[in-house]
Amino acid sequence: MLTVARLTDLRLQIKQWRQQNLTIAFVPTMGNLHAGHLSLVKQAQQLADKVVVSIFVNPLQFDDKADLSAYPRTLANDTALLTSIACDLVFTPTVAEMYPNGMEDHTNVVVANMDDKLCGLKRPGHFDGVATVVLKLLNMVQADIAVFGEKDYQQLLLIKTLVSDLNLAIDIVGGETYREENGLAMSSRNQYLTLQQREQAAAIYQSLLAIKEQLEKGNKAFAELQQHAIEHLQKLGFKADYVDIRRADNLDFPSEDDSSLRILLAARLGTARLIDNIACDLA
Ligand code: PAJ
Repeated sequence: MLTVARLTDLRLQIKQWRQQNLTIAFVPTMGNLHAGHLSLVKQAQQLADKVVVSIFVNPLQFDDKADLSAYPRTLANDTALLTSIACDLVFTPTVAEMYPNGMEDHTNVVVANMDDKLCGLKRPGHFDGVATVVLKLLNMVQADIAVFGEKDYQQLLLIKTLVSDLNLAIDIVGGETYREENGLAMSSRNQYLTLQQREQAAAIYQSLLAIKEQLEKGNKAFAELQQHAIEHLQKLGFKADYVDIRRADNLDFPSEDDSSLRILLAARLGTARLIDNIACDLA
């Protein structure tokens, strides 16, 4: 596997592959890789000849500076994991390489209708930081396809909207959420949990499944279902940011006739903020 830190070197390699008519799939990450990330890389390998993974902890998307400094950086282990599954290239730019003109004064990408809901409301500026770095990364790698996890469903929709609104020539593909045996969605933030909290955190997925079951039974009392889950989680020691039933296509509030829904949840347990979501198709 090639490890490349400089944009000029990345571009040279991409150009070579293009000259050989090879297709390229891209998986952007912030590192501290786990089986969820690796499942996206394996999916990408099915979709193109070459797979590029980026590892960059993007300061712009951290609304909490303590969260940024605590974010686990495990490059040697990440590189070993990617090598073990035959990834072709890992791009590991520095902050200076990504933001040569600094982070104070730069072009900021704001995707419409995202800052006013769910994680956008709870984490001001977060999605602007994500959209800005992802647009830069997509322009740097120039892949045919990029894979993003459904685990971060609002992020996935944001990227799809960005690509569609700005006519980027790339296909965005969603990858299924990879879970621990107890249902907890894998996340770099799970390591902020004690062993006991990891067990407790299974309640997040259970709450999502319980809402889905009710919806499938024809219960349309969205607000009550949400409130019930929030109270249940609070009793278990979580601080719920939101539990929301939304339209799957745009995350707007659903009407009773909508059949393609997404149930999304964000909650704090100890110092960790955990998010998860599942699909609910009633058609
Ligand atoms: P990061 O949190 O490292 O996630 C990288 C990719 O892995 C994202 O597409 C995310 O949705 C996916 N992912 C995370 N946990 C997963 C799981 N349990 N199963 C499947 N996929 C999972 O998301 C980011 O980084 C950043 O915001 C980024 C897009 C790289 C921009 O900085």
